[in-house]
Amino acid sequence: MRLMRIFSGIQPSGDAHIGNYSGGFRQYAATQEQGEAFFCIVDLHAITIDHDPAALQEGTLDIAAMLFATGIDPDRATVFVQSHVTAHTEATWLLSSVASHGQLGRMTQFKEKSAEESFISAALFTYPVLMASDILLYRTDIVPIGDDQRQHLELTRDIAQRFNSRYGETLVVPKGVYPETGGRVMNLQEPAVKMSKSRGAESGTVLMLDPPETIRKKLKTAVTDSGNEVRHDPEEKPGISNLIELMTVVTGDSIKDVESRYDGKGYGDFKSDVADAIVELLTPIQPRYHELRQDPAELFRLLAVGAEKARAESEPTLTKMYEGMGFARP
Ligand code: TYM
Repeated sequence: MRLMRIFSGIQPSGDAHIGNYSGGFRQYAATQEQGEAFFCIVDLHAITIDHDPAALQEGTLDIAAMLFATGIDPDRATVFVQSHVTAHTEATWLLSSVASHGQLGRMTQFKEKSAEESFISAALFTYPVLMASDILLYRTDIVPIGDDQRQHLELTRDIAQRFNSRYGETLVVPKGVYPETGGRVMNLQEPAVKMSKSRGAESGTVLMLDPPETIRKKLKTAVTDSGNEVRHDPEEKPGISNLIELMTVVTGDSIKDVESRYDGKGYGDFKSDVADAIVELLTPIQPRYHELRQDPAELFRLLAVGAEKARAESEPTLTKMYEGMGFARP
């Protein structure tokens, strides 16, 4: 029987934050137990907006170290760098012929990012086709991601279905897996803005590598709402609801547990406990990260092993795509 196939990707641009932990890292570590997992550092996605060439390699190694530090087991899961496996760029060209221009133009992330950039690259527009290739090349069943990737995953499913209906059953149509809580962690200073590597107030973004004092300060100054009751109500109380979700993400407790534990207590106590819980979560991760990160040769070795496995897995799908589309093969 074929094992369940899991695939996800993360960009090597900017510093990883607790939102990435919620939608990304923790879900990767959990899903690797369920089957055959592939986790890809998507460096080709990082060049779709203005990027710093000097930082790309460092960022790639940073994310590799963070993936292992947060629990990815290299003996169990495959971790690799997107640009090391050329099938991804090839498949992107093939799939761009079954991706609708209109649908790509309706992608929220494209609309948001293109509104901010002075130069809008063609790559920013076709970005979701590259993401679809990542996923589809591995005959993926499930894709653990945060809510912000939902629209891209739906597009991936549409692309797979269109390919299959034109050229015969070739691609597996994947399902997204989203966290029950913390699918969209918001900036602590601006609860209407998603926590992000590149946008929103820095003081409202909790980084995976922030020292404890910084985390405590960021939580202390987090924006809360009127009243003083720790209750989950994203419409009325976006600030405190975000902190409640963060608490569930780092402790594994349910929203109800958290609400009842803080019944009758105020925002102040709660915020300082959320800070303590985040510090406790990150305390073992940070030294593991630093140890791995100081040995780039070992990281490159692990990534080379991963790339080899990824090439072997993706190549047959790419060949089937070419064949289905009628190409004369060498
Ligand atoms: P990226 O690098 O922006 O984020 C990596 C993962 O973190 C999740 N995430 C969040 N989850 C909750 N709250 C937040 N504030 C938050 N911010 C980020 C993201 O949803 C993601 O799961 N396009 C993707 C990378 C990608 C990919 C793929 C993912 C490329 N190819 C194939 C899955 C499968 C991205 O930019 O993620």
